[in-house]
Amino acid sequence: MAPSATPARKERDVISIADLSSNIETLLKRAAELKELRRLRKPHRNFEGRAMAMIFEKPSTRTRSSFELAMTDLGGHAVYLSSKDMQLGRGETISDTARVLSRYYDVIMYRAFRHEDMLELAKWATIPVINGLDDIEHPCQIVADLLTLWERWGGKFSSRQLTYIGDGNNVLNSLMLGAAMVGLDFVAATPPGYRPKPWVIKRAESLSLAKGSTVRVVDSPEEAAKGADALYTDVWISMGDEAQEKQRMAAFKGYQINSHLLSIAKKGAFALHDLPAHRGLEITDEVMDGPDQAIWDQAENRLHAQKAILEYVLS
Ligand code: CP
Ligand code: NVA
Repeated sequence: MAPSATPARKERDVISIADLSSNIETLLKRAAELKELRRLRKPHRNFEGRAMAMIFEKPSTRTRSSFELAMTDLGGHAVYLSSKDMQLGRGETISDTARVLSRYYDVIMYRAFRHEDMLELAKWATIPVINGLDDIEHPCQIVADLLTLWERWGGKFSSRQLTYIGDGNNVLNSLMLGAAMVGLDFVAATPPGYRPKPWVIKRAESLSLAKGSTVRVVDSPEEAAKGADALYTDVWISMGDEAQEKQRMAAFKGYQINSHLLSIAKKGAFALHDLPAHRGLEITDEVMDGPDQAIWDQAENRLHAQKAILEYVLS
């Protein structure tokens, strides 16, 4: 039974990429500055003594490393908590966990299976909560992706088309919203049974309207690739979807970024992937190891983007 006093969500929670809609450009500029500071090895320990709890219900390479390093570079401290090793795994409630962690830390980053649990943690924590991926969104990834595109396109998004090929999952949801927020024309090709939720498309349409850009969802990867400046994909089987392996492998056949699809896109177009990749499925070795991709920049930019997000929530 939920306790009766239910605190409201806090202004600095980052649960959806849309929570950053009014700050996204400032955030990208700051991330680029932080990247330069790190390249020059100039200290930027602006948050000495601050502490972050990182709760992981699922594995991670990039999110864990980038957040932990970001906090260290900012002069703070990050503590990795695997939900399996916490009392959370033995039945302690999310609300009790949130209230206890709020007494120790300044911010919580949470990678959850269920979006409902993300909202529950944010509701009860008295400190900001950052979504490090759940079944609905992956906002921190998309800040890094937008930074990557911003760098590639000289700080301009207008008249650029970003195309996504594959599953209508957490990454597509956040990418579609994020693209709309910065005024990119966005096209997604998904198999009909794997479309993003209608409310995500509606939300993206309303964000894009304000920017004068467009959002489209189609069936055909070839149709989506036409006119694209960048092609983005993600795994066909996300963490938590493993039981659907057989039907997903059949449904996503053809939803692959390969040299043929890149040849349909605009001249100079490149591939993006949030990683981890399943080479030979959603993307070929040839593309991943070739020159027409910005995948490793995306991975690096997680660090700089996460740092900018941390500065924003801790300020
Ligand atoms: N892209 C991403 O979030 O990677 P990890 O699962 O390794 O954190
Ligand atoms: N959609 C993928 C992203 C991994 C970073 C998943 O949820 O597993």
